[in-house]
Amino acid sequence: MGARSLLTALTLEEKASLCLGSDFWHTASVARLGIPAITMADGPHGLRRKPEEGEYARISGSLPATCFPTASALASSFDPGLARRIGAALGAEARAQGVHVVLGPGINIKRSPLCGRNFEYFSEDPLVAGVLAAALVQGLEAQGVGASVKHFAANNQETDRARISADVDERTLREIYLPAFERVITEASPWTVMCSYNKINGTYASQSSWLLTDVLRDEWGFDGLVVSDWGAVHDRVAALAAGLDLEMPPKLGVDDEAIVAAVRAGELDEDVLDQAVARVLQLVERATERGGVSEAFDVDAHHALARMAAAECAVLLKNENALLPLQPSAGETIAVIGELARTPRYQGAGSSQVTPTRLDVALDELRAAAPDGVEVAFAAGFGIGTTRGDEELAAEAMALAARASVAVVFLGLPAANESEGFDRAHIDLPANQAALLPRLAHANPRLVVVLANGSAVRLSDWERHAGAVLECWLSGQAAGGAVADLLFGAANPCGRLAETLPLRLQDAPSYLNFPGEAGHVRYGEGVFVGYRGYDALDREVSYPFGHGLSYTSFEYNDLCARVSGRVEDGDLAVEVTCRIANTGSRRGKEVVQLYVGDPEASVPRPPRELKAFAKVGLDPAVSATVTFRLDARDLSYWSTAAGDWVLEPGRFTLAVGASSRDLRLTTTIDVVAPPLRVELDDMATLQEWLAHPTGEALLREAVGTDDAGRPRGILGDDELRSVVGNFPIRALTAFPGSGLGPSTIDDLLRRLRDRCVD
Ligand code: BGC
Repeated sequence: MGARSLLTALTLEEKASLCLGSDFWHTASVARLGIPAITMADGPHGLRRKPEEGEYARISGSLPATCFPTASALASSFDPGLARRIGAALGAEARAQGVHVVLGPGINIKRSPLCGRNFEYFSEDPLVAGVLAAALVQGLEAQGVGASVKHFAANNQETDRARISADVDERTLREIYLPAFERVITEASPWTVMCSYNKINGTYASQSSWLLTDVLRDEWGFDGLVVSDWGAVHDRVAALAAGLDLEMPPKLGVDDEAIVAAVRAGELDEDVLDQAVARVLQLVERATERGGVSEAFDVDAHHALARMAAAECAVLLKNENALLPLQPSAGETIAVIGELARTPRYQGAGSSQVTPTRLDVALDELRAAAPDGVEVAFAAGFGIGTTRGDEELAAEAMALAARASVAVVFLGLPAANESEGFDRAHIDLPANQAALLPRLAHANPRLVVVLANGSAVRLSDWERHAGAVLECWLSGQAAGGAVADLLFGAANPCGRLAETLPLRLQDAPSYLNFPGEAGHVRYGEGVFVGYRGYDALDREVSYPFGHGLSYTSFEYNDLCARVSGRVEDGDLAVEVTCRIANTGSRRGKEVVQLYVGDPEASVPRPPRELKAFAKVGLDPAVSATVTFRLDARDLSYWSTAAGDWVLEPGRFTLAVGASSRDLRLTTTIDVVAPPLRVELDDMATLQEWLAHPTGEALLREAVGTDDAGRPRGILGDDELRSVVGNFPIRALTAFPGSGLGPSTIDDLLRRLRDRCVD
């Protein structure tokens, strides 16, 4: 039976039941009409499929699945092709485990380094988050498995996440917090979107018709289903009316009855319910089209993919005197120090937590990969989960470092520091780890630090002791193997920072406005999130957004930008090309980044914003041309007054580089666009009237000139004009010298109207 006939055949009670799940992970079925239930499971970076029997709501105990790098790692690959492959692998695993919809990816912006779920999110930059997530969704859905893009929207902290109101101005929402969702919706058409727990400007996301209907459906054309985050519905009828289709987990016997009662009482239009049911039916149809459970997935192939991916995600922050890659000769000893080399930390805690199919241990992998005759010796150095320095462990580690040719120290955050459900209190490494480093450096100055953490940690207090620092993030079950590949040079680091590493937490633009109080968090930094803020405030950072080194080097040449089309015709385009050459001695990948700035803007704009990027793999002595295409939107800002994107005419700067602060080539373009015009009325200021060609002419006529031809009233009085030029012209009638009486203003407005009609 088609969706339309089903809608007619369903009773009101059955329709209401379809808008709630039947339990924690399934939609409802209607057996008499052959409507089956479908299955959902968590899984941005691996499936968390709970067995059908057992405790559904427990976090752990899911079926084994490949644990891929978490989103903060994957974003650092800057490689949508890789995200697509991981999405496809995730889809294959979902099919093998009978999962129809994977609850991910999570694409919220990293507003503060403290957000407890930053490891699950991609970036502080909406372009990076959107491009990577769209690719992952495409890969997943090409397997016939749905995605649930979450958490829509402005869920940027865990503190009070189920109640807090994210108080964000519209421009900031449009420029920072919504575009990643917009990109995924318009480029990848996900089957579902998951609304967030929080309120936005006082309204629960689950009850916001502005968010769920006006923006998501009417503006972006989303045709899929909106599901609630688990427990995010407070008023089922209001949520339905706002555009939320499916409530999870269901409040059975409560919210379905509320829906029925509201329809019967005429408080909810049955058409609204029908629309939600139609979307549920469409989801069921999409999910069941591919047939039953597919054959088992290829565990080895997926592990190999996870290893390759983890290597692509690692960011080489520092590499003095080419300390890496290690090239040990027979007879040498490599000291591997740190409990994390033996007890890997590879994912974060909470609903994204996967039971891995297997787990690489860095120490074992390094031993397996070391050349013959090279000893890889281990000392724990510190305990995990304790901040108390253990003198015995430290002494053992120092003795080992002293007799080795190089010391590789595995540092990172304890699992308890990074989790869904609460935010971090600081961004420091545990004290016992940071304290060990200078002592190890004293024993052996050839010190390499390998980091395992899901989001930014402070490096400024210890990194001077390390010659090289490799940021590996939480890179999944094969992270250990990838580290061996990177340290010995079988893989060349090519990850780039998708988030700024600040000198201190206090430098973060959101610092004074996080995590809010009394139920509100004010997004006071506005659009100046992440590097946009550090750059505008001219703050030094440890490592800037976009940074990452390689074992080879790259040169940038021949930047060229060409503008074509017209804003008025909707076809303005900017083609930007540059040449990248591998000037080193091994194959490597460069992430070429294109930043745009509008120094002449009439509103405060970030000095530069990432508008395109490309990852280019090159053999030594080989070069390639990279081409980017920008459109009007890429140069625009969101004008709250206009309720639209606005492109101002004038000069824009375009810079390509290897990071947001390593801009190798810069050029400018001149954009011709209609000048910004404010609507003139009696509340427009004198300055606004004077900036408007028609307004200015009429005003000059109205005040007239003296015998010598000089303007009269306020137009002839520079002093008065500089003091009250920003007053609405109606208010100027109170200033005797202005020459603007109430009748002059009325006349002015009449003549303006006539002129506009002409
Ligand atoms: C999380 C979601 C998750 C859901 C189901 C919620 O608490 O915020 O990301 O998909 O639980 O586990």
